[in-house]
Amino acid sequence: MKKPVRVAVTGAAGQIGYALLFRIASGEMLGKDQPVILQLLDLPQAQKAVQGVMMELQDCAFPLLDSMIATDNPEVAFKDADIAILVGARPRGPGMERADLLQANAQIFTVQGAALNKVASRDVKVLVVGNPANTNAYIAMKSAPDLPAKNFTAMLRLDHNRAASQLAEKTGKAVRDIEKLCVWGNHSPTMYADYRFATIGGESVKDLINDQDWNANVFLPTVGKRGAAIIEARGLSSAASAANAAIDHIRDWVLGTNGKWVTMGVPSDGSYGIPAETIFGFPVTCENGEYKIVQGLEIDAFSQERIDKTLAELQAEKDGVKDLL
Ligand code: NAI
Repeated sequence: MKKPVRVAVTGAAGQIGYALLFRIASGEMLGKDQPVILQLLDLPQAQKAVQGVMMELQDCAFPLLDSMIATDNPEVAFKDADIAILVGARPRGPGMERADLLQANAQIFTVQGAALNKVASRDVKVLVVGNPANTNAYIAMKSAPDLPAKNFTAMLRLDHNRAASQLAEKTGKAVRDIEKLCVWGNHSPTMYADYRFATIGGESVKDLINDQDWNANVFLPTVGKRGAAIIEARGLSSAASAANAAIDHIRDWVLGTNGKWVTMGVPSDGSYGIPAETIFGFPVTCENGEYKIVQGLEIDAFSQERIDKTLAELQAEKDGVKDLL
């Protein structure tokens, strides 16, 4: 048996947590031969609910689940963590302005970044799911100066998967055959899902669709507002699809993509004119536990305009929290 991997999950009592933990423990994230230790963090008032989730995890008798702990202390949850999935965040309450939301989350992610800095494995792979995900990841990264910045990522994979299935539906082809799709920018309705380079079964998606009006006026708004459409239909925000995207993100990062493109929110290295350290959705490939931003893609005028818009939003978010960092 391999040495167990320590996976910390925050917001463990929440709805994404409930859709995520069982799949991690069953081996869907790190492989069917990889034992895991779950280190679960939630607020003090959610500890009883976490105990309930742990009872259910126990009752699954997962062969790969070595052990688990629950805590309300980030330094306990992140101790020696190899992977940290930061789901818990402050939701927007009634009458709460976006700036208040940013501040409330900034406080959570400065504390959690500092705890990761102090106690996590030096190679910890961090995925921030809790919104505003890109800015929360930026705050955690800046609060963890002793860890490599590249260890901090944000989840754009749900946007990527949403875009892929819209394209499969439009072209009548299988979603599994889509390659070279990417989503640029912020996890928000300003994200830019870009299928200019995408292929399905080797054919160009752009040529198959050949309809820029559909791209600008149907596809991008549908993907951008999908989260709101799910809240409207379900009365609750997306949870199973968000958990699935988190599994995809970590699995691909750890186990590799065999040259295939996926989308990850990662600290910019200046690629495509995105200011360094901005946590931005980019097309990446993963190999040997490292991601690499796909280089050399041509950015046309329409794409540049979309990228500028999502970047401007991210920079405004960053400005909103600069006093805390
Ligand atoms: P939820 O409200 O069901 O659960 C959140 C959990 O986090 C609760 O158990 C809460 O007690 C806990 N929590 C709050 N503050 C915490 C802290 N400081 N430390 C530890 N735990 C804390 O919410 P749900 O549906 O599970 O969503 C979680 C987050 O994921 C939200 O911010 C949501 O907006 C975001 N999200 C992100 C997506 C993405 O694609 N990046 C997609 C869908 C949701």
